[in-house]
Amino acid sequence: MLLIKWRDSYSVGIDQIDQEHKKLVELINEVFIVVRDKGHAETLNSAVDTLVEYTGYHFAAEEKAMEEARYPDLDKHREEHQRLEKEVVGFQQRLAVEGDAIRTEFYHFLRDWLIHHIVECDMLYSAYLVKQAV
Ligand SMILES: [Fe+2]
Ligand SMILES: [Fe+2]
Repeated sequence: MLLIKWRDSYSVGIDQIDQEHKKLVELINEVFIVVRDKGHAETLNSAVDTLVEYTGYHFAAEEKAMEEARYPDLDKHREEHQRLEKEVVGFQQRLAVEGDAIRTEFYHFLRDWLIHHIVECDMLYSAYLVKQAV
């Protein structure tokens, strides 16, 4: 297990969104640190709560930016956000029940979840939004 390192290839070309994605990387790394150091359940829950909360904020901000740019695939992207949010909340609930047993699985899930969100979903709007912003 390793910390996630930001890469230039994760950039969607819009500074505000890149900053928010960097913040998500940071928050997931905080979860990683608790898992790695076998921290208390409360510490882990609070790191996960912060992540879930910030994810909600980020998705809403991204949807607003797409709305303002009249991005044609907004509805599809919004559905994808709902799916991603459900996935992470599902894990959050499992964590409460299954505890330590799923910590590592959870971290791997978060890492893939974030990379999928940025590289596969958000890259789809990148060119369009960059063009609109000029
Ligand atoms: Fe995003
Ligand atoms: Fe997104």
